Amino acid sequence: MSRVRLWNGSTPWLVRRYDDVRAVLRDSRISADSDRPGYPHQSAASAARRRRAKTFLTMDGAEHAAQRRLLTGDFLVKKMEALRPAIQRIVDDLVDELLAGPKPVDLVTAFALPVPSLVICELLGVPYEDRGLFQDITKVMVSRDATPSEAVRATEELLAYLGGLVERKASAPGDDVLSKLAATQYATGKMTADEVASMGQLLLVAGHETTANMIALGTVALLEHPDQLELVRDGDADLLRRAVEELLRYLNITHSGRRRVAVEDVEIGGQLIRAGEGIIAAGDAANRDEAVFDAPDRLDVTREARHHVAFGYGVHQCLGQTLARVELQVVYGTLYRRIPNLRLAVPVAELEFKDDMLVYGVRSLPVTW
Ligand code: HEM
Repeated sequence: MSRVRLWNGSTPWLVRRYDDVRAVLRDSRISADSDRPGYPHQSAASAARRRRAKTFLTMDGAEHAAQRRLLTGDFLVKKMEALRPAIQRIVDDLVDELLAGPKPVDLVTAFALPVPSLVICELLGVPYEDRGLFQDITKVMVSRDATPSEAVRATEELLAYLGGLVERKASAPGDDVLSKLAATQYATGKMTADEVASMGQLLLVAGHETTANMIALGTVALLEHPDQLELVRDGDADLLRRAVEELLRYLNITHSGRRRVAVEDVEIGGQLIRAGEGIIAAGDAANRDEAVFDAPDRLDVTREARHHVAFGYGVHQCLGQTLARVELQVVYGTLYRRIPNLRLAVPVAELEFKDDMLVYGVRSLPVTW
């Protein structure tokens, strides 16, 4: 554990060991509230964006639980498993289009982004035709280089769009998550349209950006490890499940760490952290802790890595994890089987990685077969 210096000169604790990361994330004396002094914001832009649209991702205790509870029923394992055939159809259709289209092709725009975008649009009741708007806005929202005013403007634009949808759905509801929130929260006066829209933008952004990066970056990782790709291509359902967990562990795309602040003095891993001090729980380091994962720098799709912390840990553990798992299992289980000679169309050294984004990935992925 050590102190690190951030963009604004603050010096939060960086927690790296697996056990310590989990201890931080399950401790109720440690807060996720981004309004608290000492909270280690990723950038001035993300601080401004969080202030404009606070979501339960950065709330604590009863307030967090009450808002999260509104959605847990929509993301139950049984419900997500029931989506598997529809997700399989989406993936098959997109692979048909890939095979019928020109080569080389950018796998990010032609496949990795559409899969989770189509799924989350369907689930939330957001028209997929509007994807240009929310995909462009997301790029600004997760950029470390955006200025605070750019981040707030992008957030405002997305909230205005979703707020309009919430109002329309309150009078003409469909069978989707936003309609349900519009009916039970907005129409009853429990939440404003803006508050429902804030919840919607969390789901919309978290629902497509993360999974899209896992699809593209996971493909790069497998193409760079042909022996592992072969195992995935020929693997059964259990191997695919393991491969998804291992790629989540190995790539850990939410690479900025879980951000927290101590509310009381706490001891983590023998180190005293004082009330008011910021904490960054580094999931990527925890997922490579050799006390927990044997030869952690090796990509081994046969290992059991389900206890990784790529979805976080504790009360904020990813709400959409089952959906992400089903999507990734279907994608990894389909793409390389249907296009067995899939390969990079440029040397891997020429790929541009998203070092400047809150979620890691590749900007584009030219592939051919
Ligand atoms: C591979 C894909 C994904 C990864 C790696 C991922 C990762 C994470 C992580 C690390 C957290 C914890 C944040 C924290 O503790 O500060 C989180 C929370 C969350 N994720 Fe995901 N996520 C993924 C997909 C999704 C999807 C598909 C959704 C669907 C809508 C989603 C919705 C959420 C929400 C709503 C939260 C906040 C939970 C809370 O604060 O209680 N995520 N995710």
